[in-house]
Amino acid sequence: MSGRHYLQFKDLAREELDYLFERTRWIKDKFKRYETYHPLHDRTLVMIFEKASTRTRLSFEAGMQQLGGTAIYLNTRDSQLGRGEPVEDAAEVISRMSDVVMIRTFEQEIIERFASHSRVPVINGLTNEYHPCQILADIYTFIEHRGPIQGKTVAWIGDSNNVCNTWLQAAEVLDFNVHVSTPPGYEVEPERAGLYGTEHYEEFKDPMDAARGADLVTTDVWTSMGFEAENEARLRDFHDWQVDADMMKVAAPDAVFMHCLPAHRGEEVSAEVIDGPHSVVWDEAENRLHAQKALLEFLLLGRIKP
Ligand code: CP
Ligand code: NVA
Repeated sequence: MSGRHYLQFKDLAREELDYLFERTRWIKDKFKRYETYHPLHDRTLVMIFEKASTRTRLSFEAGMQQLGGTAIYLNTRDSQLGRGEPVEDAAEVISRMSDVVMIRTFEQEIIERFASHSRVPVINGLTNEYHPCQILADIYTFIEHRGPIQGKTVAWIGDSNNVCNTWLQAAEVLDFNVHVSTPPGYEVEPERAGLYGTEHYEEFKDPMDAARGADLVTTDVWTSMGFEAENEARLRDFHDWQVDADMMKVAAPDAVFMHCLPAHRGEEVSAEVIDGPHSVVWDEAENRLHAQKALLEFLLLGRIKP
């Protein structure tokens, strides 16, 4: 029995996401009141990292412990995973010793191969293509600050990377719009993004046009992990795709600014914006913890009746 996996955002249906957002609120409130909640007593999460992480590792590890379980950290440098053991073999073994697995890796295909040989649920902790846990937390953060996201407009400024692709999937599932502006040559690839169609996003040449009237403005690093060889060219190509105060001025007056972090002030975002009044980046980072606790509970125990 492998149960459900969460490999990309659209693996969850809209009403399941609504449930998860409600559950996130409940779990967060309980946590803030210092009330013990151990539904995952004796359960073990294995976390496999092929790329660096601060937030994802911390939020999964702390979250699992707060739910009464245990988290084990593996990376490719000091396990057999980096020495050529087939992904399928690793999945067979790791999933016999644990209850749920989280993986941060390169190609989406790797996590799909792992999941197809896993006896337990597998969660995508970031691949080159997607970052579904991030967008769970981001949308929960939007709901906390501004209410339902349905019908709203999100402006994505910068690289059409894993985080952008996940916003685009989320727009399809939750029925909102994304205005995307990337430099030429870095446009959205709908197939790679795993989209059903093009109805929920629009591409803009000028980032100011993408931001105009948006309820949420967001961006990410110009060079994602695994693309470091392109860094110099990207610094040049993305120069005009910085979210700055002028851009926030054309967004809706109560627009929020989000960034998955880590951020590079002076590159994809100005210090004035990320440290300014529109920014909700610290709530966004904290909500990784609460949203993922709700996800772990859901994947391991199903729906909890109120
Ligand atoms: N946003 C995010 O996933 O951060 P980390 O790379 O620190 O995990
Ligand atoms: N797009 C970034 C996100 C980091 C959390 C990367 O893949 O490096």
